[in-house]
Amino acid sequence: MPSNLVRLTVNGAIHDIAAAPDTPLLYILRNDLALNGPKFGCGLGECGACTVIIDNVAARACVVPLSACAQRSIMTLEGLGTRDGPDPLQAAFVVHQAAQCGYCLNGMIMTAKALLLRNPRPSEQEIKQALRYNLCRCGTHVEILAAVMAAAGHATARDHLSEADRDATH
Ligand code: FES
Ligand code: FES
Repeated sequence: MPSNLVRLTVNGAIHDIAAAPDTPLLYILRNDLALNGPKFGCGLGECGACTVIIDNVAARACVVPLSACAQRSIMTLEGLGTRDGPDPLQAAFVVHQAAQCGYCLNGMIMTAKALLLRNPRPSEQEIKQALRYNLCRCGTHVEILAAVMAAAGHATARDHLSEADRDATH
């Protein structure tokens, strides 16, 4: 492999990337690999919209340089599930209608997924702690928390609704 190439494993596929070593991973994912799950928000590592999972740990792709990603396993939202076969966490976001504009959701879901990978049944406090630096300007926090709680196997307020009331929420 030429020395100017960096080998990335993204969602299980290998890519040899030629770019400046300090290029943010987010740019490679979105511009070179057409993986638009991770969003550009602040570009400063502060909002979480760009979150991916690197070696099972949540990372902010806007501030991770390409050079730090060689030979590491990267998962983006696209690697988590599909429309027809969503990850249980994604399904929980749909059931709990945990979205308004949706811009923060990539970061919320990938950060929560990293938490569930290391702790399959986190407490409410642990979920809040994990998501505390993911920003949502729409104020969807209550629904997002409920979705992650459900994915972690906890009962949520929705579980106490009647069938008719659940249907009415859709
Ligand atoms: S865009 Fe990466 S943290 Fe905001
Ligand atoms: S749903 Fe709009 S920023 Fe979170």
